[in-house]
Amino acid sequence: MDSQTWMMLSEKYVAHTYARYPILLTRGKGTRVWDMDGKEYLDFVSGLAVCNLGHCHPRVVKVIQDQAERLIHVSNFYYIEPQIQLASLLCQHSFADKVFFCNSGAEANEGAMKLARKYAKEKMDGDRYEIITMERSFHGRTLATLTATAQKKFHKGYSPLMPGFKYIPFNDPEALRNAVDSKTCAVLVEPIQGEGGVNCPTEGYLKALREICDEKGLLLIFDEVQVGMGRTGKLFAYEHEGVEPDMLTLAKSLAGGVPIGALLIKKGIAESFEPGDHASTFGGNPLATAAGVAALRAILEEGMLENCQRVGSYFLSRLEEVKKKFPFVQEVRGKGLILGMELKMDGGPIVKEMMQKGFLINCTMGNVLRFLPPLIITKEEIDQVVEALENIFNKINNDQLSMVSDQ
Ligand SMILES: Cc1ncc(COP(=O)(O)O)c(C=O)c1O
Repeated sequence: MDSQTWMMLSEKYVAHTYARYPILLTRGKGTRVWDMDGKEYLDFVSGLAVCNLGHCHPRVVKVIQDQAERLIHVSNFYYIEPQIQLASLLCQHSFADKVFFCNSGAEANEGAMKLARKYAKEKMDGDRYEIITMERSFHGRTLATLTATAQKKFHKGYSPLMPGFKYIPFNDPEALRNAVDSKTCAVLVEPIQGEGGVNCPTEGYLKALREICDEKGLLLIFDEVQVGMGRTGKLFAYEHEGVEPDMLTLAKSLAGGVPIGALLIKKGIAESFEPGDHASTFGGNPLATAAGVAALRAILEEGMLENCQRVGSYFLSRLEEVKKKFPFVQEVRGKGLILGMELKMDGGPIVKEMMQKGFLINCTMGNVLRFLPPLIITKEEIDQVVEALENIFNKINNDQLSMVSDQ
């Protein structure tokens, strides 16, 4: 069956929750993917920050094959070897002492918010349940996490939203100080906002949040679903700031492409979850956690963090050069290999043109081109993307100039 027929069947049978591009990807290897018609694409989307190791990393593939032959799933009634390995590796390499496993970023955030409420009931004075989140944040699509997501466009049609949330501007510690009241129990923040337009923290911002949380006795939760697992050049984005959260959520790239989510928790807080308080049938299942162990080891052992830092700085400098040449580029920002280019115009058509030229990139917030290549990307591959982008921008520039001269 050809790709057009498949796409027609998708329109007929798959719920229309995604605006899809008209390509059907059937194969991936490293930094590249191929569609059903054999066209090759250089992938700067990485399944939206999932394929940090590149597509079908051999260590992950091998572990999935071996684990699938041995044991795919058992209930959390029983101990699960790769789950224990992944939890201990995550704790060894982070601030955390305990890990709860689930299947997605939204679920990890749900877990964090439930634990914050439960901890507050047990350990904080009064009746504290409110969670403060940041404007332009993104925390998921379940009812609680979309309420936590402080962007109106995601709320439309779903009222009444969950009670117990308050929104403040990102990068404004004073706003937090003013927002905290006798109901507040926690602050949930992305160390770099991904969907909200690749918004980086200003110097000292996360530290200030930590100080305010300590002063007021609140829990600090970092959502590293998009920026964790090496995306910023360190295993966790919080490491850049010298600030530790009380809880941290992960998902996306944690298992090299296999669905997984995790909530990392500090001692003293984790104990508020007792047997029966929270659960997930698939959470931490043998297949997903075996893939997670292989993915984490590959990130740590194969120089991916170093490459991310090195080529990330190079990519940022190349994008800054592009900004200087084109007046419709507003700003370039990001860290490691999560980079954004804010335009003074709609970015959608540029994504489509790049796709025609064989490059997958993404646009968020309507006008921020977002680049999320695998951490194994090379300078040469970055040059190819920048060159393709410049060609498109030159055409836009020329069109704009000829429109002015026609007037
Ligand atoms: C920062 C952040 N948190 C949470 C989520 C939700 O993750 P999932 O789609 O796995 O539920 C996302 C997804 O893009 C995200 O970027």
